[in-house]
Amino acid sequence: MSLLEISDLVVGYGPHPVLHGLDFVVEEGELCVLLGLNGAGKTTTVSTIAGLLRPQRGQVRLDGQVLGRSSPSARVRKGISLSPEGRRIFPRLTVRQNLRLGGWSQRRSPKVVKSQLDLALDYFPRLAEREDQLAGTLSGGEQQMLAVARALMSRPRLLLIDEASLGLSPTLARTVWEVAARIRRDGTTVLMVEQNAGALPFADRALIMEKGTLVHTAVGEAIRDVNLRETYLGV
Ligand SMILES: Nc1ncnc2c1ncn2[C@@H]1O[C@H](COP(=O)(O)OP(=O)(O)O)[C@@H](O)[C@H]1O
Ligand SMILES: [Mg+2]
Repeated sequence: MSLLEISDLVVGYGPHPVLHGLDFVVEEGELCVLLGLNGAGKTTTVSTIAGLLRPQRGQVRLDGQVLGRSSPSARVRKGISLSPEGRRIFPRLTVRQNLRLGGWSQRRSPKVVKSQLDLALDYFPRLAEREDQLAGTLSGGEQQMLAVARALMSRPRLLLIDEASLGLSPTLARTVWEVAARIRRDGTTVLMVEQNAGALPFADRALIMEKGTLVHTAVGEAIRDVNLRETYLGV
């Protein structure tokens, strides 16, 4: 059974859907990259998985269990966590306060909160150096790191990362992807949304999205295929 299974997903913001019957799976332990141009429907997809949007049709299953109409917070408790597009950190709170809020669902397990905090700061040492700094005063790259670290605080089974590399220098983008790969090696399944094909070498599974549908799926070595890059990405 796949950890995440999307079937026949139709989602829109009004009467007209922007996702037209999406089907895909993410296996437990994978780093999956969902790649597509601006407007392809990537944010709509991960927002629906996180419970922020209701599908007009179709299902999201976690471990075979239909998530149905369950709320975003119920999904966090089931193990789904989102690092949203645009970061959405709390600028007037410190780094540590932002992280503690990310661990809200675990507030009755101080040991879990402590171990996730240690883990998040180990992944992102730059945040450890800035724990007492107001988040709004961090650089763009550091704010992105904080958004991913905050999403880790709930100890997810499935971490959704929406466009972590947007607006970052190539070096910082690479750093964020390397941490995503490390998170996956440590056992958390990752679904990473990207416009940047530079993320592909980090993927176990690549999904290419155009205009609300998947036009290609590649697993393992096929991701390195030159044709995939030429046909779908024009690189
Ligand atoms: N809040 C919204 N209201 C209406 N249309 C939206 C909204 N958000 C996104 N869309 C539309 O849905 C489509 C997919 O958007 P989105 O999922 O954000 O794509 P991506 O994340 O791949 O850039 C686009 O055509 C976009 O204009
Ligand atoms: Mg988006």
